[in-house]
Amino acid sequence: MATIPVAIAGAPYDVRIEAGLLAKAGTHCRPFLRKDTVAIVTDEHVAARWRETVAASFAAEGIESRWLVLPAGEATKSWEQLARVIDWLLEQEVERKDNIVALGGGVIGDLTGFAAAIVKRGCGFIQIPTTLLAQVDSSVGGKTAINTPAGKNLVGAFHQPVLVLADPLSLDTLPARDVRAGYAEVVKYGLIDDARFFEWCEANGRRLLAGEADAREYAIARSVAAKARIVAADEKETTGTRALLNLGHTFGHALEAETGFSDRLLHGEGVALGMVLAARFSARQGLMNGQDVERVAAHIGAVGLPASLAALNLSCDGRRLADHMLHDKKMDAGTLPFLLLRGIGETFLAKDVDLGDVAAFLDEELARG
Ligand SMILES: NC(=O)c1ccc[n+]([C@@H]2O[C@H](COP(=O)([O-])OP(=O)(O)OC[C@H]3O[C@@H](n4cnc5c(N)ncnc54)[C@H](O)[C@@H]3O)[C@@H](O)[C@H]2O)c1
Ligand SMILES: [Zn+2]
Repeated sequence: MATIPVAIAGAPYDVRIEAGLLAKAGTHCRPFLRKDTVAIVTDEHVAARWRETVAASFAAEGIESRWLVLPAGEATKSWEQLARVIDWLLEQEVERKDNIVALGGGVIGDLTGFAAAIVKRGCGFIQIPTTLLAQVDSSVGGKTAINTPAGKNLVGAFHQPVLVLADPLSLDTLPARDVRAGYAEVVKYGLIDDARFFEWCEANGRRLLAGEADAREYAIARSVAAKARIVAADEKETTGTRALLNLGHTFGHALEAETGFSDRLLHGEGVALGMVLAARFSARQGLMNGQDVERVAAHIGAVGLPASLAALNLSCDGRRLADHMLHDKKMDAGTLPFLLLRGIGETFLAKDVDLGDVAAFLDEELARG
């Protein structure tokens, strides 16, 4: 088992990673539970595949698991479902010192984490992420949120879990497209500041996607270690370090917005293409060499993630995509911080990017064959 400490001041916790951990969830959670019942929030897809395994693991510890099973999908991160979770937790008589469990992908983790942050002014929670995206990204770092009609993740809180259990075996039941989308966030850590890890991805990414256990465990552990390091340095995104985690996300969010946050383009797919665009834009600004840019695009393409804007068949121009960026919640006093690269593993925050340049660049990319 790999154990990665997340050194948040005042609230440190561990991320444990091991194949088969879901079947041992009860044993790992036991020291964090004061009662012989536990409240678990999940969604219908995860419940159908993993509820029995997880419930049995708690039962083996003499703990009765109580379940709230929500609809699957991004729409569940809503006021309505938040109210449902809170009312249910109150019915379960959850107390501030209790730890509730979020079992599922980023949707369940973000929603349950936010509910934990506000019920009785805050109770504890344990993340058991079951998607690759949640295992390498959303379950670590304490960002929780719901969506509102005004946009995604606009209402939320920083609330760290007390424990994270990531089981690579849970990915066996996840659709291949979701695994691939989550893999984009793995590649991201290499591109941010770890060129050696990007090389590992080039050599092993396809093994991970094919389901090889050692490749999955290694990639999750190294990704979590990267996220833990960055989050511990800048928990609440005040110094700019945590912003590095948004590499590929400004372009990606614009593409997600243009495709209506739909199945046409999953978040990770938008991030994958967004990272290629960030690399190409960096080259256009004279920052990154063409060979590195081609390596990024080649790897993203080789694993079956979108690597070219033209292939998306969008019917809009660069200005329209750039306009979506104006609504990005990272906007700060009218300027949009942009993550650019000087090379693989050399991402930095650029504060003086001109959106007109971005629009012109996107027009060129839309026209590329
Ligand atoms: N808090 C953060 O720091 C952070 C970071 C990145 C993303 N996010 C959020 O994460 C969310 C996306 O997360 P996601 O990609 O995990 O989506 P998700 O939670 O919707 O999961 C994707 C799909 O997979 C299903 N599923 C989950 N685990 C499964 C399993 N083991 N087997 C079969 N099906 C399974 C789900 O039911 C869902 O249909 C977004 O809302 C995003 O805003 C948060
Ligand atoms: Zn992301």
